[in-house]
Amino acid sequence: MKTIFSLLILAPSVSQAQDAVLDLTRLHSYADQEVPAYIAPDNTPANNRITDIGATLGRVLFYDKRLSRNSTVSCASCHQQENAFGDPAIASQGVAGTTGRHSMRLINARFSTERRFFWDERAPTLEFQTTEPIQDHIEMGFSGADGDPDLGALVTRISELELYQVLFTAVYGSPEVTELRMQRALAQFVRSIQSFDSKYDRGLVAAPNPNADFANFTARENQGKRLFMAPPGGPGGGAGCAACHQAPTFDIDPNTGHNGVTGSLGGGQDFTNTRSPSLRDVVAADGSPHGPFMHDGSKETLLDVINHYNAIPAVTPGLDRRLAGPPPRPGDPPPQAQRLNLSGDQKESLVAFLATLTGSSVYKDVKWSSPFDSSNELSVVVLPTQVTFGTGSDGEGRRVILRAGGVPRVTYRLKTSSDLENWDEGIAVTASNSGELRHEMAAAPTAKFFCFVYSPSE
Ligand code: HEC
Ligand code: HEC
Repeated sequence: MKTIFSLLILAPSVSQAQDAVLDLTRLHSYADQEVPAYIAPDNTPANNRITDIGATLGRVLFYDKRLSRNSTVSCASCHQQENAFGDPAIASQGVAGTTGRHSMRLINARFSTERRFFWDERAPTLEFQTTEPIQDHIEMGFSGADGDPDLGALVTRISELELYQVLFTAVYGSPEVTELRMQRALAQFVRSIQSFDSKYDRGLVAAPNPNADFANFTARENQGKRLFMAPPGGPGGGAGCAACHQAPTFDIDPNTGHNGVTGSLGGGQDFTNTRSPSLRDVVAADGSPHGPFMHDGSKETLLDVINHYNAIPAVTPGLDRRLAGPPPRPGDPPPQAQRLNLSGDQKESLVAFLATLTGSSVYKDVKWSSPFDSSNELSVVVLPTQVTFGTGSDGEGRRVILRAGGVPRVTYRLKTSSDLENWDEGIAVTASNSGELRHEMAAAPTAKFFCFVYSPSE
């Protein structure tokens, strides 16, 4: 067949349908987001760099309730965009009760030196972490124990959904669903969630010296910044926060003990929690806290948090040495943990500084929002289409030949438009056994634009 030219044909705009549309020809930008030059840590492994299509699959998985045993809970049930991908509840609702720890915010998870995840750092990588909640009896219920189905049952469920056959083919070249493929896509989406448009970032960019006061800060915010950064003790001593919550990412120092918050939602004590999410976006854009804070959700406000560090209750096993106070000498009374003796004014300044770490786009950008409509349907996926002009298969006359890569034996709709605004109902085209979508039409169709649309509800 003689190919005269080929081109990518545009897809219908999202506004065309009220249905939730995932347009694979016009992906959101996940891979090429701007990361400020002063941000150094990046826990992305070489074999799982973010791609736009991979993070798009991750987004669908993240918001799909069918990833839980009874299809009632998605990752986003506990990690809510409007709450900095955390949950205002102390304990979050899963398929079989509530979680044993408070849900963590997921802002800037990519930019942490500490590569282990969860409050107690039990997940060796983010990739590994992502399928742990699925296999948790309480959270999503594919534990394989206590009467639960196992992860294999979820893989089978997902494999049978044509939506995922289409999406996995688009990302990985074949419809096969595996735990590894799910982990990679989910981790790409979580790593894509970034927030660097805060008042702090604007101040840092403009400042000749990061340690100097920022011109765009109030006097109170600058005082809070100095207190946050400076080690405690001595004249002009600070609160020592930055030793563990490292600026400018505000990620956790990988070598911390616990911070003296030792409660447990299940009762008893828990000394294992040595990771904190980034302190960016601990406050909402309106100034209200994205609390409650800590693994047990025991601190409702940032003032509660600061009061904790101001007077750490006790030296307990595993308490970070920086919070344990000076080592006792023989004959001394039992050691007393950190006392900062901050004034009310200083505490208020620390709270004001923490509020400067909040961004805005992470709460609004649709690329991190649910792709599903209100009835949990993702009705249309649009595939790139190649168009060639050639001779028809009967060897006669010029034809337009439209092709796309599809999923074997799955039926799509070929839609046409002359203005990219109005699209016709289209005709059904079923992909061949090898997954090719192909349709021939007369050489001079009135429509200029074509696309193949896959709709799960059909
Ligand atoms: C029922 C609520 C719930 C669901 C559903 C849930 N999570 Fe979580 N998530 C939590 C809790 C609670 C923690 C902290 C648990 C701990 O440390 O023991 C957490 C921690 C995390 C962390 C660690 C963050 C860090 O900085 O260490 C990541 C990443 C994460 N979840 C991603 C996901 C993904 C991806 C899904 C869906 C596959 C998901 N979560 C589903 C409640 C939930
Ligand atoms: C010795 C290390 C260390 C120091 C110093 C420290 N922190 Fe923390 N911080 C932690 C750890 C570890 C956690 C997680 C603890 C947990 O939940 O059990 C944490 C948690 C937090 C949280 C809660 C985060 C969340 O998502 O719930 C806030 C807020 C916080 N710290 C603020 C501060 C401030 C403000 C200071 C200075 C006054 C400070 N920290 C000093 C180690 C430290």
